[in-house]
Amino acid sequence: MKEINTIGIIGFGVMGAAIGMNAAASGYYVVFKEVDEVLVRSNYEKWVLSALKKKVDQNKMNQADMDKIAGRIRGTSRYEDLSGCDLVIEAAVEDFGLKKKIFGDLSRVCRKDAIIVSNTSTFPIEQLMADVLHPERTAGLHYFFPANVNPLVEVIRQEKTSPETLEAIRAFAERNGKTVIEVRDFPGFAINPVFISSYMVLNSFYGNYNAATLESISKEALGLKFGILWVQNFSGIGTSYHAAKSMYDYLISTDVGFVKMPESLEDCFKTAGRWNLEDGPVIEDKTIRKVVSDRLLGTIFTIATHLVEKAVVSVKDLEKGVRISLAWPQGPFLLMNRLGMEKVRELVVNTCYSGLFKMPQRFSVKTPEPWVL
Ligand SMILES: NC(=O)c1ccc[n+]([C@@H]2O[C@H](COP(=O)([O-])OP(=O)(O)OC[C@H]3O[C@@H](n4cnc5c(N)ncnc54)[C@H](O)[C@@H]3O)[C@@H](O)[C@H]2O)c1
Repeated sequence: MKEINTIGIIGFGVMGAAIGMNAAASGYYVVFKEVDEVLVRSNYEKWVLSALKKKVDQNKMNQADMDKIAGRIRGTSRYEDLSGCDLVIEAAVEDFGLKKKIFGDLSRVCRKDAIIVSNTSTFPIEQLMADVLHPERTAGLHYFFPANVNPLVEVIRQEKTSPETLEAIRAFAERNGKTVIEVRDFPGFAINPVFISSYMVLNSFYGNYNAATLESISKEALGLKFGILWVQNFSGIGTSYHAAKSMYDYLISTDVGFVKMPESLEDCFKTAGRWNLEDGPVIEDKTIRKVVSDRLLGTIFTIATHLVEKAVVSVKDLEKGVRISLAWPQGPFLLMNRLGMEKVRELVVNTCYSGLFKMPQRFSVKTPEPWVL
C-alpha cells in the first residue's frame, strides 16, 4: 500500500485547518498552503497555536503534546513547498474555476505518485481533476463539519481512481480515527443529497408556517435533538444556499430530479442570514404537521432510493453515514422499514407527483419488499 507520512492542505480555513489538526494529532506531518504569508501566519496562530493553547489552559492537553502537534504543522504560500507531500487535500473555497486551477498547479509541483484529493461539497471529482496528470491518483475525500470532531468521511472514487489510491486514502482516514463510507462520484456524493433536499423541502413550507414550527416538525419526524433548521443556521445559511443551488443545477435535468430552490431560502440568505427559530408559537395541529412531515419523509425516502439505484452508495453505507454524520438516530432505510413499505410507497409517489423528484424504479410499479440492512 502507498505509504502516507506527509500531507499537504490547500486552504487553511474552517475545514482545512480542522483536517490538518486532526492529521497532526494522529502523527502526520502537515504542510498547509494559504493565499499569502499574512494568512499563513494568522491562520497558524488562530487554528493551531490558540486552539491548542486553549486545551492546555483547560488541562485537556499538556504542553509537551501541544509542542509536538504544533511542531508537525507548517504553512507556506508557495506550491513548490508541497513537492514532498504523499497526499494533498484541497480545501479552498467552493469555487469551481479556482479549484480546477489549483489542481492544475498541484499537478505541476507534486511528485507524480502523490495522491491528490478534494474536500469539495458538491463538485464532481472527475470534472475538477480534468487537468491532473496521472488521474488514477485522484479522488474525493469529503469531511463533515466540524471536521476534527465529526467522525464520518466519504471516500469518493471517480471513473479513473485506482484501487491503490482508494486503499491508501481509506487507511489514512481510518488512522485519523474516522469512519469511512465509499461513494461513487455524484453531485453532492451520498450524504449531502439527503441533507440538502431535506432542508430545501422544509424551507419551501416557510411562509405558510413559521420557522419554529418547521424546526419542531423536523425534530419529531426524525427523532432529532437539534432540528434541521438549527443545523442550517449552525453550518451557515450561505453554505446552505449555495449547496442547494448547485445540487438543483446538477440534478434537475437528470432522471433523479431535485427539489426547486425555495424562495424563502434565497430570501433568508440575502436578508436575515439565519432562521429565527423563535418566531412565534409552534403549530400543534396534527393535520398540518402531518402534511409537512409526510413531505419531508417522502423526500428523504425518494433521494435515498435514487442514490442506491444509481450505485452511488450501498444501503448499509448510506444508512450508517446518515446516522453518523447527521446524528440522526435512524437512517433513511430503517425509517422506511419501520414505517412499512406500503405507507413509504404512498409518500414517495406523492412526493414525485408533486414534481420534487423523478420516480425511482423500485417504487414505480408496486410496493417493494423492506430493505435488507
Ligand atoms: N464548512 C463546511 O461545513 C464544509 C463541509 C464539508 C466540505 N466543505 C468544503 O470545504 C472547502 C473549504 O470550506 P471552508 O468552510 O473551510 O472555507 P473557508 O473559507 O473557511 O476556508 C477556505 C480557505 O481557502 C483559502 N484559499 C482560497 N484560495 C486559495 C488558494 N488559491 N490557495 C490556498 N488557499 C486558498 C482561503 O484563504 C481560506 O482560508 C469548500 O470546498 C467547502 O465546500 C465545507
